Amino acid sequence: MPSTPTTQPPAPPTPLLCIDAVGKDYSATTVLDGVTLALNAGEVLALTGENGAGKSTLSKIVCGLTPATRGGMRLAGQTFAPATRREAEQHGVRMVMQELGLVPTLTVAENLLLGRLPNRAGWLQREVLHAAARTQLAKIGLESIDPATPVSQLGIGQQQMVEIARNLQDDTRILVLDEPTAMLTPRETTYLFDQIARLTARGVAIVYVSHRLEELRRIADRAAVLRDGRLVDVLPMAGLSEDDLVRRMVGRSVNDLDHRPRRTAGAVVMEVSGIGRGTAVQDVSLSLRAGEVFGVAGLVGSGRTELVRLLFGADRADRGSVTVHGSDSDKKQPPVQGVKAPKATKSVANKADKGFASPLAAIRAGIGLVTEDRKSQGLLLAQPIRINATLSDWSAVSRGGWLQRALEHRLVQGFVRTLSIRCRSGEQPVGQLSGGNQQKVVFARWLHRPVRVLLLDEPTRGVDVGARAEIYTELDRMADEGRALLMVSSDLRELMAMADRIGVMSAGRLVAVFERGEWSEQSLLAAAFSDMAGRATEPSAAAPSSSRGPSSAPSSATA
Ligand SMILES: Nc1ncnc2c1ncn2[C@@H]1O[C@H](COP(=O)(O)OP(=O)(O)OP(=O)(O)O)[C@@H](O)[C@H]1O
Ligand SMILES: [Mg+2]
Repeated sequence: MPSTPTTQPPAPPTPLLCIDAVGKDYSATTVLDGVTLALNAGEVLALTGENGAGKSTLSKIVCGLTPATRGGMRLAGQTFAPATRREAEQHGVRMVMQELGLVPTLTVAENLLLGRLPNRAGWLQREVLHAAARTQLAKIGLESIDPATPVSQLGIGQQQMVEIARNLQDDTRILVLDEPTAMLTPRETTYLFDQIARLTARGVAIVYVSHRLEELRRIADRAAVLRDGRLVDVLPMAGLSEDDLVRRMVGRSVNDLDHRPRRTAGAVVMEVSGIGRGTAVQDVSLSLRAGEVFGVAGLVGSGRTELVRLLFGADRADRGSVTVHGSDSDKKQPPVQGVKAPKATKSVANKADKGFASPLAAIRAGIGLVTEDRKSQGLLLAQPIRINATLSDWSAVSRGGWLQRALEHRLVQGFVRTLSIRCRSGEQPVGQLSGGNQQKVVFARWLHRPVRVLLLDEPTRGVDVGARAEIYTELDRMADEGRALLMVSSDLRELMAMADRIGVMSAGRLVAVFERGEWSEQSLLAAAFSDMAGRATEPSAAAPSSSRGPSSAPSSATA
């Protein structure tokens, strides 16, 4: 065997995949046009562009999820036109989808090995299945998940990791990752990047789609920029600054993260006292003040989403209480133009033992929620933007019970403009929008509702830099009006830019609260990991971290 003691100059790259003048139309609308691009073995190509630029569409064409309208592809020199995802996978072309493709009712193991379930004479071999699943999970540090857990019981971050694990197969030649880290924290992201390095060393080509530009700079060799369905640039990543990249994507600079002083906080609006549910959330106490943004950091599975769900009454707490104070200061909320102001309230406290009994009760008390899981909890995909955006408050668009078309229209036009939602019209079904644009609709829903407390769970997930700046502006405006905002985010830079205080969750507990000026990325991460050691020894560590309703609660957690 020849040994190579000295490093040889790299061989000139042979394109593994050639995309040739590919275009895509949806009825009369062209969403991709004339995209010509070569992908080399062993490289990481960042595919970037604003929300709706066509990144997912191009990815889906490559991976057999949707056919191109025009143009063609060659894989290792052979014509490649996969008619289905299955067919693409048979050629080693796989995709981690932006909208997760897992089957919620199947177990983790079944999802991981779907289509390759081991059986003997027609009988499923459960032991073999679970062992294989465990190996697959270990690759990305998910040893603690029981392969027999139904996927529907996992938090969305863990689902994302399972989706990634599912696609880490030995026969992979091309792996497309569409927003794989939108719901991951630094720890999981590191596992993923280790796997990516392992794959590229083997010659696998990676297409990486992300709005987190610092990640692209960390792992990508080249960046391809899409704008309005056209490829406008393909550049080496080395020497490209984030600002360069943004300008190429958006056509202008966006000043994304400024350093603001702490906002002046008013009276306490919400008091959370010892709220808990099993081991998922353990005796969390905090108070939110009018006009402040309280950030919540923590690893995937640390109980952040579970806490938000308890505060919103989506899950029932088994101890503690939530109190919402109404006060006359609420009157100075002028939401969207043309929308009635909230009723003046005297100083009333709405105390709910074990949290609110339902989301409806929470909404009545003045709480709103922007969810991370837009698909299953946020949106009616078949319904138009108009319906989805006004869903939270019909009273805003009706007078005496009658829907005011003109008012509604004006309101929806306002959202579309403010948040630059890319759509044909307010009548377009939300399911047809790109991922980031769907997220903006979830957000729009609460813009006009006079909530006192807005809970935001990963509000900018999958949203591009330009639109993210718009959302930050809206959040600032809401805080200025005296609302209290509680924002969960996996993006520490976002939290550090937006929040006045940051609470860190670890293994179900609120382990630290930092004031603006006191935190650093280091100190936040250290706090996030602080309780993990203890957690690993608890039996519940293997239990799903996010139960989606009382019936799915892990039995050990409802003692
Ligand atoms: N089924 C569909 N019918 C009509 N239009 C669609 C459909 N699917 C996608 N589109 C449109 O195609 C365009 C490109 O969408 P795509 O999902 O590829 O964007 P993206 O670059 O992935 O955006 P994001 O960053 O938000 O994920 C969007 O304008 C979207 O509305
Ligand atoms: Mg997309």
